[in-house]
Amino acid sequence: MATTPTPADKFTFGLWTVGWQARDPFGDATRAPLDPVRTVNELAQRGAYGVTFHDDDLIPFGSNDSDRDAHIARFKKALDETGMKVPMATTNLFSHPVFKDGALTSNNRDIRRYALRKTMRNIDLAVELGTEIYVCWGGREGAETDVKDAYVALERYREGFNILAQYVIDNGYNIKFAIEPKPNEPRGDILLPTIGHAMSFINSLEHPEMVGINPEVGHEQMSNLNFVHGIAQALWQEKLFHIDLNGQHGPKFDQDLVFGHGDLKSAFFLVDLLERYNYKGPKHFDYKPFRTEDDAGVWQSATSNMETYLMLKERAKTFRADSRVQAAIEASGLNELAVPTLASGETWKDLAKDSFDVEAAGKRGYGYEVLDQLAMEHLMGFGAK
Ligand code: GCO
Ligand code: MN
Ligand code: MN
Repeated sequence: MATTPTPADKFTFGLWTVGWQARDPFGDATRAPLDPVRTVNELAQRGAYGVTFHDDDLIPFGSNDSDRDAHIARFKKALDETGMKVPMATTNLFSHPVFKDGALTSNNRDIRRYALRKTMRNIDLAVELGTEIYVCWGGREGAETDVKDAYVALERYREGFNILAQYVIDNGYNIKFAIEPKPNEPRGDILLPTIGHAMSFINSLEHPEMVGINPEVGHEQMSNLNFVHGIAQALWQEKLFHIDLNGQHGPKFDQDLVFGHGDLKSAFFLVDLLERYNYKGPKHFDYKPFRTEDDAGVWQSATSNMETYLMLKERAKTFRADSRVQAAIEASGLNELAVPTLASGETWKDLAKDSFDVEAAGKRGYGYEVLDQLAMEHLMGFGAK
């Protein structure tokens, strides 16, 4: 079936997603810890392509060197046995109290240096596991009060990325960084809160070509922004190095729902966009199984992410193939949007030569209502009539 996931679909999951024990600010864990080896096996059986990890998901914080080696060896064995890949890795720079005022932007210089060492050590492991994308989500890089100087903090943030890029270059690693924006949570306000902030920050780095973004559906929607537009811009600027798919119901706490289980229509147009513009990277699910779920519910939710993506991909395909849709696209003038405003050889001087009926052009309808409803028909499975 077109909705049965296979490794060719490149679906990946963070160890921390299915592994979330459902501890929240008001309640204790409702599930037992999950062995990363089991996660690799369960996800492989369900058709996933790979897993991703924070250093501390794989190697509990504070492990000694021999324990660390043992954790890595077991994990590698599971990867070898299943053929699962590790296309992305990241650093936990948010759980331990030492990072409470940030990692790369902590006031404390020793903490910043420690955060860089922790990251570099995990980059070494990531490279060993074949990872090519290193995500940086600065959940603690922010503040609850504006007395924390964001101007200087950004200076330190930039310095941190410059140091890490140099580390990768000096080691000859094939690693690119992907910054993950988020507006708030856990900090009251987080630096680089949106796709736009992050992409603009990247331009200020010493090696902007080594740094892109890892946008997450819910994080932009927490800011009431249009995720599809954000991803279109990231693709257009060739900065979409990775993507975190999940679901969110508008601006509220970070829900990390299953992909498509928040704003379904936006998810439909997102899949349509990713497929049309040939996004080649992993489709990474960064979500949390409901706190109400037991072990069976956790694995059900993993499958739901992948199947939802594939169902939307199928619907987007029938939408684009429908002759009524193609005619409506033509009628809306959308095809003309692809035609440059000046013809080849023309300059601004040629604009004066146009004779143009402003009033008539102002009366024109664009037919988006027809297209929008056709999208709804396909999304709801009525498109093939
Ligand atoms: C969130 C974030 C995190 C990060 C992940 C990578 O939901 O707040 O997405 O899950 O993606 O921890 O560091
Ligand atoms: Mn999130
Ligand atoms: Mn994420």
